[in-house]
Amino acid sequence: MRIAVGCDHGGWPLKAVVIQVLQEEGHEVLDFGTHGPERVDYPDYAIPVAQAVADGRADRGILMCGSGVGMSIAANKVPGVYASVCHDTYSAHQGVEHDGMNVLCMGGRIIGPELAKEIVRAFVRATFSGKDRYRQRIAKVKAQEARCQSREA
Ligand code: RB5
Repeated sequence: MRIAVGCDHGGWPLKAVVIQVLQEEGHEVLDFGTHGPERVDYPDYAIPVAQAVADGRADRGILMCGSGVGMSIAANKVPGVYASVCHDTYSAHQGVEHDGMNVLCMGGRIIGPELAKEIVRAFVRATFSGKDRYRQRIAKVKAQEARCQSREA
């Protein structure tokens, strides 16, 4: 897969190991920055990564900030993106299998690099289960997304 990756200064300590494990797993990485430890604003990284996923330039995204929360909130403002904070391996694969999660968010102030690597592996190895009950729930989420978009038009 092609994976878009982005972080702010809070997620910066995780970015290199995340890119390394993605490459080891055989994925192509699109690096949206940041490119150093200086303080930056997480939406400036979350939105471009989310847009890359939404328009198909990337299959999935991985975002890192201090807690994962800001990145998740910002990424979910882009229609077609289903982002969540995951700090455990179960959520990282179940989110894809049941909920169609396409952007993983992690906090560099919450977890260390070894756990981050395992979470990334769980996320990229997972695929949507395709079961009807999961499709039905996702369809309800997408229906709400469509209602919001039609109000904006
Ligand atoms: C930056 O200080 C911090 O607020 C940011 O990285 C993130 O944790 C927001 O959710």
